Amino acid sequence: MFPTHRPRRLRKTAPLRRMVRENVLTTNDLIYPLFAVPGTGVANEVRSMPGVYQLSIDKIVEEAKEVYDLGIPSIILFGIPEDKDTDATGAWHDCGMVQKAATAVKEAVPDLVVIADTCLCEYTSHGHCGYLEVGDLTGRVLNDPTLELLKKTAVSQAKAGADIIAPSGMMDGFVQAIRQGLDEAGFEETPILSYAAKYASSYYGPFRDAADSAPQFGDRRTYQMDPANAREALKEIELDIAEGADMLMVKPALAYMDIIWRVKEASNLPVAAYNVSGEYSMVKAAALNGWIDEQRMVLETLMGFKRAGADLILTYHAKDAARWLQG
Ligand code: PBG
Ligand code: ZN
Repeated sequence: MFPTHRPRRLRKTAPLRRMVRENVLTTNDLIYPLFAVPGTGVANEVRSMPGVYQLSIDKIVEEAKEVYDLGIPSIILFGIPEDKDTDATGAWHDCGMVQKAATAVKEAVPDLVVIADTCLCEYTSHGHCGYLEVGDLTGRVLNDPTLELLKKTAVSQAKAGADIIAPSGMMDGFVQAIRQGLDEAGFEETPILSYAAKYASSYYGPFRDAADSAPQFGDRRTYQMDPANAREALKEIELDIAEGADMLMVKPALAYMDIIWRVKEASNLPVAAYNVSGEYSMVKAAALNGWIDEQRMVLETLMGFKRAGADLILTYHAKDAARWLQG
């Protein structure tokens, strides 16, 4: 018996494969994360993330130029402040690290889209994403008081030049609060990219080295989502859309491809996938051991996010990927 259908016909040559290719990955899809630290001339490589650095503002500007020249349209900024306190002062202060970095980058590379991560965990002494009750050692963040701080943070980031505000703390009502704060301050044109479905994940480990943002006690399970839940992600995005989100993010990406797909199906907004630190570190570790073909694996993974429905991908591989896509 011969096969009556032969799908291999369309895989026969490279040009044929190119003609029937269903998805594309381009540098336009990529967003590169950067970590701003105090000082000048500082470039500290993150122990668990080879090739990723904490950079002082002058170095961030150099990096931003390189990113722009590679054709990557956007960066997302995280800040590591000099001092941390219970009010997360470094997050909302006009001289905060993200604010300073945003201003410097927009001055040097006006066409690069600057996204500000809007959260408090890098700035609180306890490392949680919001206010805690005095004496709390469990990490049960107080929701509504935290909204006030997030609002202040977003407004000061927008004032500093941030083009997009990206709240990542998974507080109830954070999109609405930030929208209201931005509108009242005259930033009704500034879009919100909501970390809409963000899971309590082990894949954030290396990021917490990079951002110095590990919780000092407890964990984030009272605000980030349970990895077992998918329907709940739809609930989260429904709320964020109603509250005025302009774009939605799913995070992490690799273990949550089904969520990317469902979010894409359930909304008409652009969907971003965050290819998080632990996903990067796993690939880097294997590549440094010579166990995998890094270029092929990274491009395949990024294409996987596109196929799953992501319009945008936040990734520490962005610069390498841009070079490979050109080459
Ligand atoms: C915190 C935040 C996290 C990441 C970005 N913002 C994780 C966390 O500590 O909960 C993770 C990014 C990554 O792992 O690359 N608001
Ligand atoms: Zn946080």
